Amino acid sequence: MTNKKEDNLMEKIVSLCKRRGFVFPSSEIYGGFAGIYDFGPMGVELENNLKSHWWKWMVHKRQDIVGLDSSIFMSPKIWEASGHTKGFSDPLAECKECNTRIRVDKILNELGVFADEKMSEEEINKLFEENKSKIKCPNCGKQNFTKARKFNLLVKSNLGDFTESNTAPSYLRGETCQGIYVNVKNVLDSGYMKLPFGIAQVGKAFRNEIAPRQFLFRTREFEQMEMQYLTKPEEEMVEYEKLRDYRWKAILSLGLKEENLRWKKHDNLVFYAKEAYDIEYNYPWGFDEMEGIHARGNYDLTQHSNGSGKDLSYQDPETNEKFLPHIIESSGGVGRLFFAVLCDAYTEDELGGETRVYLKFKPSLAPIKAAVFPLLKNKPELVAKAKEVFAMLNEDVSPIMFDDNGNIGKRYRRQDEIGTPYCITVDFDTLGENEEMKDTVTLRDRDTGSQQRIKISELVEFLKDKTIK
Ligand code: GAP
Repeated sequence: MTNKKEDNLMEKIVSLCKRRGFVFPSSEIYGGFAGIYDFGPMGVELENNLKSHWWKWMVHKRQDIVGLDSSIFMSPKIWEASGHTKGFSDPLAECKECNTRIRVDKILNELGVFADEKMSEEEINKLFEENKSKIKCPNCGKQNFTKARKFNLLVKSNLGDFTESNTAPSYLRGETCQGIYVNVKNVLDSGYMKLPFGIAQVGKAFRNEIAPRQFLFRTREFEQMEMQYLTKPEEEMVEYEKLRDYRWKAILSLGLKEENLRWKKHDNLVFYAKEAYDIEYNYPWGFDEMEGIHARGNYDLTQHSNGSGKDLSYQDPETNEKFLPHIIESSGGVGRLFFAVLCDAYTEDELGGETRVYLKFKPSLAPIKAAVFPLLKNKPELVAKAKEVFAMLNEDVSPIMFDDNGNIGKRYRRQDEIGTPYCITVDFDTLGENEEMKDTVTLRDRDTGSQQRIKISELVEFLKDKTIK
């Protein structure tokens, strides 16, 4: 078994992702583009499975939560009201020798010093100064930095701004939840919901991260899965505890190992927050934030009521009382969950005297549910029968893959590396060479490598049962 803390686990996963079509560095043939990744043929399947799982838990299983798909571009006034144009920043310092930028709070954290993006420039510079002798430029190794300054993470665009100097920028959204807050009134007016209720959405967000790093963990373009739950003020903390329990259960149902997950309470809360916890995953460098669950009071709706001049308060249909709902949110990144699922699934073992690598996904998350092989590719009767089996299965279980490339051992290795739970081989017995085995195939299990004989007529039910739940 792979040791989680093995130094090169990260490299092994990054390399497997490239080799097997999960994740590619963006714009690779042009030398890449920092902090951005593309999801390949296997990656997009896994990504979609994770998003569907989230949607099922956060919308379809819940009568009190509805979905939304708001736009990436929104009025710049939204980002002013939310505080992002002024306060959405991380502390940046620059190496005076080679101009490499570092994120000072994270570098301090690596030295065991508590610091975060909420600290003032003065506070962070004090800590930076105290620890400067221990901090080297990650590029040139010198120790000659500028002072730390706050760098705004919003990504500007010139959409709707026709001045050459871009004096009235619009922004690509820095988080998806602002699109939810500004649609609360629309959702209420469309008559579906009564308090308490939630609005959920999945979509892209963009941040000008100073030091994108650790593969999919900190990127400049990423997807968020966010749910904002509106409550009466006095019910906020009860609902908060329920949401924390619910998210924990939802994450465990992905098959992640519980020992690789933990809660982390925020010690340094923003002034309006009541409480904040992260669910951390044990990534190759240790436990780090995978998603956050925050009790936000009525800050967001207050800001947008004031910013827009529209009253966003809720009138209780029973008591007629009017108030601004309080909000609890769950906010996770698709990329961080994707990376956690890959780390959890990555396994090395010995099979047939050789080391093999396989991804032990929960079958319902696997990009490919089953692969169908003809034993030999140069026997037309085997190929025709395997294609027939493939076509039959493809109606009910998807996606599945037909593979006749290379010898059977190589095909197993390839499927193991993308985490396909079952491989089905059509051989001469299937064709009736051995009368008793006519219309049966071998079914190989990814995790044990063991094989069993199964009737073709039983395959659909078997695979549905094992790979859909
Ligand atoms: N609306 C609250 C919010 O956006 P956040 O802690 O900034 O809070 C929430 O982000 C989640 O989004 C994080 O827990 C993480 O999973 C994901 N995330 C944030 N920044 C990211 C980045 N640069 N790259 C990848 N994922 C990111």
